[in-house]
Amino acid sequence: MKHLHGYAAPAETEGAVIRWAPFYDLVTNVVTFGQAKRLRNLTVELSLLRPGESILDLGCGTGGVTIPAKQRAGPEGKAVGIDPAPGMIAMAKQKAKSKGLDIDFRVGVIEALPFPDASFDAVTASLMMHHLPKRLRAQGAAEIYRVLKPTGRLLVADLIRPKSFAGLGAMLIILLHHGWPFDGEDLRRLLTEAGFPDAVQLDQRFSAVGFVRATKA
Ligand SMILES: C[S@@+](CC[C@H](N)C(=O)[O-])C[C@H]1O[C@@H](n2cnc3c(N)ncnc32)[C@H](O)[C@@H]1O
Repeated sequence: MKHLHGYAAPAETEGAVIRWAPFYDLVTNVVTFGQAKRLRNLTVELSLLRPGESILDLGCGTGGVTIPAKQRAGPEGKAVGIDPAPGMIAMAKQKAKSKGLDIDFRVGVIEALPFPDASFDAVTASLMMHHLPKRLRAQGAAEIYRVLKPTGRLLVADLIRPKSFAGLGAMLIILLHHGWPFDGEDLRRLLTEAGFPDAVQLDQRFSAVGFVRATKA
């Protein structure tokens, strides 16, 4: 494991970049009471990813969602993860390698995706939208729309305001968020304005984490 300060400088962004990659998985597991894997599997399931498809995981961190997504996409499928933090990308690569998975992890930012139009069947943004200032969210949503194939799906998992804060939800919010949790309606409107006609908040929740899914027409 590299020293915390031993990584290259992060990619330039106004988003809140995580610089404590070596501790990220541990913290995530603690705040989910050991249920991180269940949250990640639910996220991949709700993305409706099918074997053989391609998926882009934005703000992928240590690959918590990208790795089960690749396992679901299978050898014929493709998984790509981007994050501005080189430390996160290094950890993600290490984890994928130890599992024998071929995943394209790169340093990058949501506001300028290094992919051609209509490249992916699915995009996930797990616990990362709240790391972006408002302007970048809109720019990011437009970029997601651009890189999705027609009929491609976007799944956002984030701290979406629950009816009441309690226990695990409150802890997650305190430890992970950089701003007030989303109003699901704001997130839905953001995606509708980016061109997604059917953005909808799903009924499923994982404590403080809610899900919004949208399809490119
Ligand atoms: C709370 S972590 C979530 C990591 C992972 N998706 C997960 O579910 O565990 C938020 C991530 O967003 C990344 N981030 C910050 N600004 C970003 C940007 N402009 N574009 C993409 N990712 C960004 C951070 O570096 C961090 O790794």
